[in-house]
Amino acid sequence: MQRLLTGLQPSGALHIGNYFGALKPFADMYNTYESYLMVVDYHALTTTRDPKELKANIFNAVRDYLSVGVDPSKAVIFQQSQVQEHTELAWIFECLVTVPFLELAHAYKDKVAKGLEANAGLFNYPMLMAADILLYDTNVVPVGQDQKQHVEYAREAAAKFNNVYGETFKEPRELIQESVAVVPGTDGKKMSKSYGNTIPLFGTKDEIAKAVMSIVTDSSGEKPKNVYTIHKLLKSKSALGFIYEASMGNYKTLKEALIEDLDALIAPMRAKRESITDDDIRRILKEGSDRARVVASVKMATVRKRIGVAL
Ligand code: AMP
Ligand code: TRP
Repeated sequence: MQRLLTGLQPSGALHIGNYFGALKPFADMYNTYESYLMVVDYHALTTTRDPKELKANIFNAVRDYLSVGVDPSKAVIFQQSQVQEHTELAWIFECLVTVPFLELAHAYKDKVAKGLEANAGLFNYPMLMAADILLYDTNVVPVGQDQKQHVEYAREAAAKFNNVYGETFKEPRELIQESVAVVPGTDGKKMSKSYGNTIPLFGTKDEIAKAVMSIVTDSSGEKPKNVYTIHKLLKSKSALGFIYEASMGNYKTLKEALIEDLDALIAPMRAKRESITDDDIRRILKEGSDRARVVASVKMATVRKRIGVAL
């Protein structure tokens, strides 16, 4: 079986764009692999210094994935900071690559381009991510388009190590999920937290209704485009054809139909989310981290031998 690994950013509340663009495609395919799902809390440290917020976001990241149906008995769900081999291997990779090479990484480059001072953690970010991936002999890494370069850095780190110390790491490939269209927000632009145009993924029915009612509709056409585009993610074209025919031009009725269909999808996930306790998550992460550590420590024993520090 091929091995899959991905990192979950512990960051704030999700919207339905995240669900259709990332969580659902992941939930639909992770169990055809031997899957590792890791909360990347040490990566989050490059951008947050609020311990309360970080802790809450770690719980939430796991809760989100469990709520959309990821089964902890079918994937190793673990916490990056609890497997110390990650930071150890990152150091070794950092000693193999050059500063100009890391200067080309997007996360760092974008920060500097904005005139901001990057911390050294952000600069080294791609080598920690390389360690995350390579410790587990990962074959595929499902990520968004924006992370493609980071997976290339992981391949590069593997090649450099193998070249200097002998064949040790597998070169992984990214799995970019592009089948799903961009989900529009309530203003018709891409749905995004930073545009304030979102429909919350785990919102109450009232919150969903409020967001849907605010969707911008064109005053001409018979089919309100933004409403229809979201509706298409929930119902077949033929089922929608019937509804949109019967209520042609009646935007309020069409929005109400969308609210019902969204709530039918979200209500069970919302209920599941509420049933998961912090203790459930602690237990899942503890078991997952223990399992991950077994794999990572075997790999690190080889690495230590190869580089000459095992006496
Ligand atoms: P972000 O937090 O914006 O980087 O989004 C996390 C993931 O959710 C990305 O990898 C995207 O694939 C997905 N995503 C975010 N917004 C949308 C959207 N409006 N439509 C489709 N997918 C999205
Ligand atoms: N950098 C990734 C992101 O921002 C998160 C990440 C960290 C990751 N380590 C990883 C993703 C390993 C895949 C594999 O989304």
